[in-house]
Amino acid sequence: MKKLALSLAGAAFAAGALFAVPAAAQFAKVEDAIKYRKAAFTIMGANMGRLSAMARGDRPFDAAVAQAAARTVDMAGHLPWEAFVPNSAAGDTRLKPEGLANAAEVKAAADKMQAETAKLVTAAASLDTLRTQLGAVGASCKACHDKFRKD
Ligand code: HEC
Repeated sequence: MKKLALSLAGAAFAAGALFAVPAAAQFAKVEDAIKYRKAAFTIMGANMGRLSAMARGDRPFDAAVAQAAARTVDMAGHLPWEAFVPNSAAGDTRLKPEGLANAAEVKAAADKMQAETAKLVTAAASLDTLRTQLGAVGASCKACHDKFRKD
């Protein structure tokens, strides 16, 4: 019994140590971080595209499909930020160096977007509310792109 308790304590310690590792250490190489964040942004963009098609009437509105897309945008919107690691504004990326130098501003822009995508899930239940909230989300994406993404 004592042995079990000790090994549990050991496991808890190991888990704690794991979570204490800084975000940059989650990626073996800077290129991996760039790929990771671009993958998350690609998923956000693809699902925003599905929602825009419904909002424009290019695709029939379906509340279940819209809410699933909205949930994916909301979930993926939490992923890119840990991949804004040092030295990752060079290479196969459109991140401006300002995006690394102004981490607090990027975080504020990400927080603002997350607040809007959280509302998108409920809004996607009807076409009218989807249209309105999609505009708010799109504006929050654009605000950051205008500042921190190269054309
Ligand atoms: C806080 C800043 C920020 C917010 C908010 C943001 N983006 Fe981006 N986005 C970026 C940056 C920086 C890049 C460039 C990433 C790179 O090339 O490394 C990018 C790249 C992209 C790309 C291109 C991905 C690729 O493979 O090149 C798409 C698509 C995209 N964003 C969609 C979105 C959508 C949709 C939203 C809103 C739901 C959004 N972004 C919100 C900063 C942001």
